[in-house]
Amino acid sequence: MVEGQIESAQTSAPPRKKIVLSGVQPTGVLHIGNYIGALSLWAQQQHEFKNYFMIADMHALTIPENIKAKELRASSRRVAALYIASGIDPEENVIFLQSALPAHPYLAWILGCVTPMGWLERMTQFKTKSGQTESVGTGLFTYPALQAADILLYQADYVPVGEDQRQHVELTRDIAARFNHLFGKCFRLPEGLYRSTGARVMGFDDPTAKMSKSLAEQRSGHAVNLLDPPNVVKKTIMSAVTDSGNEARFEHASPGVRNLLELYEVLTKEPREQIEGRFHGQGYGSLKKAVTEVVVETLRPIQERYQQITSEPGYLDDLLASGAERAGEVANRTLAKARQLTGL
Ligand code: AMP
Ligand code: TRP
Repeated sequence: MVEGQIESAQTSAPPRKKIVLSGVQPTGVLHIGNYIGALSLWAQQQHEFKNYFMIADMHALTIPENIKAKELRASSRRVAALYIASGIDPEENVIFLQSALPAHPYLAWILGCVTPMGWLERMTQFKTKSGQTESVGTGLFTYPALQAADILLYQADYVPVGEDQRQHVELTRDIAARFNHLFGKCFRLPEGLYRSTGARVMGFDDPTAKMSKSLAEQRSGHAVNLLDPPNVVKKTIMSAVTDSGNEARFEHASPGVRNLLELYEVLTKEPREQIEGRFHGQGYGSLKKAVTEVVVETLRPIQERYQQITSEPGYLDDLLASGAERAGEVANRTLAKARQLTGL
C-alpha cells in the first residue's frame, strides 16, 4: 500500500506530503503496548508522511513527585534510542525533545487562554491521574493545552497514537477551531490515526486494565518492556491471566485470552481464522508459548539496535540537537503567525 501510493505520487501531480506529529512521555520504560499502539505504527508509515517524533519530556513534569533530573534526562534519551531501534529512520524523520523548543510552552500559554476550564475538567486522563497523587499541580490540568501546542505547531494532518489518546486529539481539534474562530485561521485541524487491532493492549496480570508504564513499574507481571530479556518475557506471558476454559475465538474469548490473541494477530499479521484454527480447543499453554515466541522475535532486533545506538558516544546528543533545529524551523514559523494574529 505504501509503495503504491508513492508511485502514484510520482506519476500524477505530486500531492503535499501529509504531516505527522506524535510523541511519548519519557516516564518509566516503554512496553509492548507503546510499541504496538504507537512506535510500530510510526515506523510502518514513515515513508508516506513528513514525520515529527517528539519526546514529551515537559509532560513528564506534570507529576513532579516522580521526577529525578538525572533519571528524566536518561529516560528521554532511552526513548529517543527506542524510536530509532523500533525502525524509525533518524535521517528521514525529525526526532526531537519537546523541552528543546520554547515554542511549545509559548504556544501552550496562548492555547490555554482559549481553552474553557470545562473542556479540561472532562479529560479522563486528568481525572485518573489527579486521583493518584496527593497534590495536583496545575500543569497536570493544563497538560492538554501543551499537547495541542505540540501538534498544532507542526500543522499536523495526522497524530498516530493509541486509543487512550483519542480524547486528547479531539480536544486539540476543538482548541484549534476555537483559536481559528477567535483570531483568524492559523492551525490545521489534525486527525488521530489508530490501529484497528492493538490500539489498546491490556495488562497481562489484569486484562481489564490498559497496559501502562506506571502499573509496569509497580507490578512485575503487568507488562513486557521493550528491553526485557527473553526469560523475563517468557515468565510474564506464561503467567498471563486467562480463564479456565479453552475458548480461543476472538469474539468469545475472555479479556485475557483476547489480549493474547490480538497480540499474536498484530505481530504475525496472520488472518483470524488461521489463528483460531491453530489455538481453539487447545490449552492456553500453546497460545502463550506462541505469543512468547513472537514477542521475543519482535524484540530481538529492537534490542540489538538499541545496544548499538547507545554504545556510540555522542550519537544521540547530536541527533537530538539536529532534530531540535529542524523542528524549530517549522514550530517557530507557526508560533510567529499565532503571535501576529493575537497581537503579541
Ligand atoms: P504513554 O505510555 O501514555 O506515554 O503512551 C505513549 C503512546 O503509546 C501513546 O500513543 C499511547 O496511546 C500508546 N499506548 C500506551 N499504552 C498503550 C497500550 N496499552 N496499548 C496501545 N497503545 C498504548
Ligand atoms: N499525552 C501523550 C501520552 O501520554 C504524549 C504526548 C504529548 C503526545 N504530546 C503529544 C502524543 C503530542 C501525541 C502528540 O502518551
